[in-house]
Amino acid sequence: MKINGIEYKTIWFNEEKQVVKIIDQTKLPHKFIIKELSSVKDAINAIKTMEVRGAPLIGGTAAYGIVLAVQENKDLEFIKKCSEELIQSRPTAINLKWAVDRMIKKLAGINSDKILSIALNEAKEICDEDEKFCKNIGINGLKIIEEIYNKKKDTVNILTHCNAGWLATINWGTATSPIYHAHKKGIPIHVWVDETRPRNQGANLTSYELNEEEIPNTIIADNTGGILMQRGEVDMCIVGTDRTLSNGDVCNKIGTYLKALAAHDNNVPFYVALPSSTIDWDIKDAKDIPIEERNSDELSHVEGIDENNQIKKVLIYPSKSKAMNLAFDVTPAKYVTALITEKGITKASFDGLKKLFK
Ligand code: MRU
Repeated sequence: MKINGIEYKTIWFNEEKQVVKIIDQTKLPHKFIIKELSSVKDAINAIKTMEVRGAPLIGGTAAYGIVLAVQENKDLEFIKKCSEELIQSRPTAINLKWAVDRMIKKLAGINSDKILSIALNEAKEICDEDEKFCKNIGINGLKIIEEIYNKKKDTVNILTHCNAGWLATINWGTATSPIYHAHKKGIPIHVWVDETRPRNQGANLTSYELNEEEIPNTIIADNTGGILMQRGEVDMCIVGTDRTLSNGDVCNKIGTYLKALAAHDNNVPFYVALPSSTIDWDIKDAKDIPIEERNSDELSHVEGIDENNQIKKVLIYPSKSKAMNLAFDVTPAKYVTALITEKGITKASFDGLKKLFK
């Protein structure tokens, strides 16, 4: 998708310099900085500090992290150790482990000169596949938006939480892909963008990327969605996910659950968009999902740009107050109208997912 009118993807390999390039998302929307990752440590750090974030992009970065590990040392034991460190770098998004496992499986038993090119091809394949899947999510989700528009014959108001946009994937996004497809088709869309405290991915990233594609959007405080739904100002909600269990329970950015409850109470359809790499077929009980707890600094301090165009961090809480920062919650399947995947739209249930994917 576009930034300043130029098409970008969120991650790519620079053959000439043999480095991975990313857009540093910690600096958006105020500064657009392309950063180079030249070691597996750089990849781990980029995931931990959220220079890259969003489940599919974390997976893509981890895949390239393995390429960088191979570049450093072709010994399989070293690569395996790096893969464990990569998996630990963020716990909740299943795409991370999925991508690392896929890379390790591909490299198992290969100790020839070809190992680097095999790793690079697989990382590229993981990213290309994600782009294709996200595009298909858009084509499938478009039907839902079209249906609402055909009935309403007026602007479709869509509420989204966090950033499940193209910046969270390789391209297109998951939740935003149907929105981009509808916009390209000329359907009038307006997006309510949840600010998404504490890190403000909605305000800093979703609104930013929608602006760049000229899609009307309004940032709202996280608690505003409820009243908007009561007033009939939301036609549908659509969010992404970091891990969806095979029973249809959806783990996503903290606050998603409360939005789903409000949607349920107001008969607003609540959709979750995901590629199959985000399905966890192993964990059966949502209580077993590792929920990341991040530093409380993310709550007590906010970052912005000052009058000298410098990014500044300021304390907004009483200095003696304690804060707690759980990064994800789980929305039970019963509150999810349907899952939008690359293979089609299905009920958030084991049978629904099994029909599409097994
Ligand atoms: O903590 P983040 O910014 O990585 O959380 C991102 C989300 O919760 C997204 O909704 C999710 O990863 C889906 S991305 C297509």
